Amino acid sequence: MTASSVTAGTPATRPGSHHAGQLDISGDFPILDRLVNGQPLAYLDNAATTQKPRQVLEAVRGYYEGFNSNVHRAAHAMADEATAAFEGAREKVRAFVGAADSREIIFTRGTTEAINLVAHCMTESIGPGDEILITEMEHHSNIVPWQMLCRRTGAELVACRVTHAGEIDLEDFYAKLGPRTRLLAVAHVSNALGTVNPVGDLIRAARGFGARVLIDGPQAVLHIPVDVRQLGCDFYAFSGHKMFGPTGIGALYGRAELLDALPPWQGGGEMIERVTIERTEYNQLPYKFEAGTPNIAGAVGLGAAIDYLGSLPRAELLAREEALVETAVNRLKQLPGVKIVGEPAQRLSVVSFLVETGHPHDFGTLLDQQGIAVRTGHHCAMPLMDRLGIPGTIRASFSLYNSPSDVRRLIAGVEKAMDFI
Ligand code: ALA
Repeated sequence: MTASSVTAGTPATRPGSHHAGQLDISGDFPILDRLVNGQPLAYLDNAATTQKPRQVLEAVRGYYEGFNSNVHRAAHAMADEATAAFEGAREKVRAFVGAADSREIIFTRGTTEAINLVAHCMTESIGPGDEILITEMEHHSNIVPWQMLCRRTGAELVACRVTHAGEIDLEDFYAKLGPRTRLLAVAHVSNALGTVNPVGDLIRAARGFGARVLIDGPQAVLHIPVDVRQLGCDFYAFSGHKMFGPTGIGALYGRAELLDALPPWQGGGEMIERVTIERTEYNQLPYKFEAGTPNIAGAVGLGAAIDYLGSLPRAELLAREEALVETAVNRLKQLPGVKIVGEPAQRLSVVSFLVETGHPHDFGTLLDQQGIAVRTGHHCAMPLMDRLGIPGTIRASFSLYNSPSDVRRLIAGVEKAMDFI
């Protein structure tokens, strides 16, 4: 495979070719055929990471086998091919999130690094008396970088309450948002409960006070078509590995004039224009924020994941996934002693629940023995668990390749675990 075949989105296996018109895409994901503990795999840990389709695996392999070279810096053909593939992937990400310009797309290791980048670069522009507003449902990645920023600058971290239904308490949000709010950082979709937050309203309200807004988007991008310009956010962060791409690659969208005004983050190669021993002139966007050799294979894989998604009947697959989640919620509710954690008006992809007869970890182990992969624990959202008064949950999270059989296996698996415990 050549660079041009990757950038053109026509790798050896055409994305989506064998399932055109069909709603079962599981055949594209080789790992789903494996056995776990002697049982067929029912993979319901998609909020932690999704599996990868053959098209993404082939694109990554195609890069390493066909044109592995460093980007932007050599006068040879393979380096040009690698650069074309890498920048082609940036353009795909731009289109995927609806940004105006590919200069507004910074490749990062993932969401965590993207949020840390913004928090670090804001150090010089905030101080005592300023507030960063988050919510109690945030992932630790959207809490800790702001705590660190506040410690560096004397600004205050303010957290809006979450209701027992697992939604942002809007009364509290509007009470805590104000002229001191310099930045609102909020999840598009909760990784722990699946709550879809009304980010459009929150962004409008925050910008009304002149605050910047960062949306933490990794749980959303696969499930909700995102358009950053329509949303009106200043920053949007997401990870490739939760949308069928590789691990170690993600992106930060930032409005160009804001990114231009921020100082660089890490120093090193690529982010420079000219260096003397005394001083450095920095490179233009997006390179100013991409010091060092980037994850080229990861970017190529992410570009292939975007092509793959583009080849799918996404709306139908999303509707099917939503129906699976609803069925799972309803069927779990009918089991004695099962309590669904969080009852948000809008839920996506995730079902968190508890069984009164046993600890979540025990249920996780007993499900695993039946080949059913779920996540148990606090899901990197300890303040949310504290707020709900629980140590953790059992979380089943769905993606576009899950089927009614996965729901049936989950329900039967929980019943069997209940008998055992
Ligand atoms: N943030 C990921 C999860 O929710 C790891 O599982």
